Amino acid sequence: MLDILKNRRSIRKFTQTKIPPEILLLLQEALLRAPTSKNNRPWDFIFVDDASLLQALATCKPHGASFLKDAPLAVVLAADESKSDVWVEDCAIAAITLQYLAQSMDIGSCWIQVRKRQHASGISAEKAVQQVLNLPAHMRVASIMALGYKAETRAGIPKEKLEFQKIKFNRYS
Ligand SMILES: Cc1cc2nc3c(=O)[nH]c(=O)nc-3n(C[C@H](O)[C@H](O)[C@H](O)COP(=O)(O)O)c2cc1C
Repeated sequence: MLDILKNRRSIRKFTQTKIPPEILLLLQEALLRAPTSKNNRPWDFIFVDDASLLQALATCKPHGASFLKDAPLAVVLAADESKSDVWVEDCAIAAITLQYLAQSMDIGSCWIQVRKRQHASGISAEKAVQQVLNLPAHMRVASIMALGYKAETRAGIPKEKLEFQKIKFNRYS
């Protein structure tokens, strides 16, 4: 596990190789095993591999999403906000679980923030994603994960660069 943590970096360049169905199933299993508050499981996960949909999702906000158009896979993390007041946390945990499993199989990933971001037209990035995917308004969109085999190499952060001063013991000061 520590090796996975050490080596995971955000990957934004992918080969065009499709992720095979048996690996997709493992990614799905990881998402569905993510813990949720009160075991509410308010989320749904939309796997997108259609090129025109990927292109449309890549424009959900002006910055930080464009690389999605060249990714072979996006997983959209959405949740029914009426099912949980902490759907944001539940989606975040599922997202990082997905990233760590992907890294364990040498699959690259990058988180694309959607909630609280704006589409170029001024509507929310969430609304833009809802429109592309036919998601009803109560299905809130937290983020999109871009996934694929890596076409760039990024070294893990060296241990010496970790900010151990951010760790406090017993009291903050
Ligand atoms: C909550 C969150 C939102 C993020 N949003 C984006 C994003 O919209 N676009 C993007 O390219 N990267 C995004 N990232 C990736 C971060 O930029 C990246 O994790 C950070 O720079 C550290 O780099 P590393 O993941 O390679 O360690 C996001 C990461 C997190 C955790």
